[in-house]
Amino acid sequence: MNPSSSISVPQMAQAPAKTQPSLEAVRLSKSFLSGVVSIQVLESLSVSLYPGELSLISGPSGCGKSTLLSLMSGLQSPDSGRAMALGEDLGSMSVRALEKFRLRHTGFVFQGFNLFPALTALEQVQLPLGYMGLSAKEALQRSRDALDEVGMSHRSHMRPAQLSGGEKQRVAIARAMAKQPELLFADEPTSALDAESGQRVIDILHRAARKHGTTVLCVSHDPRLVRHADRVLGMEDGSIRSDRRQVAAIKESSI
Ligand SMILES: Nc1ncnc2c1ncn2[C@@H]1O[C@H](COP(=O)(O)OP(=O)(O)OP(=O)(O)O)[C@@H](O)[C@H]1O
Ligand SMILES: [Mg+2]
Repeated sequence: MNPSSSISVPQMAQAPAKTQPSLEAVRLSKSFLSGVVSIQVLESLSVSLYPGELSLISGPSGCGKSTLLSLMSGLQSPDSGRAMALGEDLGSMSVRALEKFRLRHTGFVFQGFNLFPALTALEQVQLPLGYMGLSAKEALQRSRDALDEVGMSHRSHMRPAQLSGGEKQRVAIARAMAKQPELLFADEPTSALDAESGQRVIDILHRAARKHGTTVLCVSHDPRLVRHADRVLGMEDGSIRSDRRQVAAIKESSI
């Protein structure tokens, strides 16, 4: 699938001065078996991502975006190469250490929201904080703050069935942000949403990067997101083909 030997390596966008990368893919390769055929999805892909930025990996369906996100977040392991997060090699961690690392340092936002039907918005956000060992009082405070930050305080007692798609996604983002993770991963966070809700969601993710210095890695094939990212990496057939920084469009008043 990926005849990348003839592809020239793109010029990488200039790194922010004096900042260490918080996420690094180092010559990552990954293939999957489809029947008896092995499909090479990523081939020796390297990229460094930095704190305080929303980096968007954009590219057509099937080019390997979700695979890259899952390798960089430790959800899957590469066939070869290394995924480094906050200076640590995810591949050298035990299953338990990796679980702990992911609980403590990472937040996830997915296309399908992944909310529990029986829990209120506030309870959805509180739940992982309990697993992290926070006191009930601190978990409650952080959850309220996070819901406030995404403009959902007034819906905190509602269950998913009572919320719109955009509202559900904002609860999912509050749940991820309440953990105060250094690394926030979003896989197609806007593709189930209309344009206006999608814009709100990307603005919230962008603000998380700006305000909290979070490294936000968002993958999407939605071209509407491109102008809202600080850095746009174009992916095709398992390789990064373009990489540019830009002044992102942000609408601070969108909540
Ligand atoms: N667990 C798996 N087993 C077999 N093949 C897989 C698996 N995961 C991904 N693939 C294949 O790898 C390729 C890349 O998949 P991936 O989900 O990373 O693409 P994507 O860029 O995220 O696409 P989309 O925009 O549709 O979400 C696809 O051809 C897919 O079928
Ligand atoms: Mg995908």
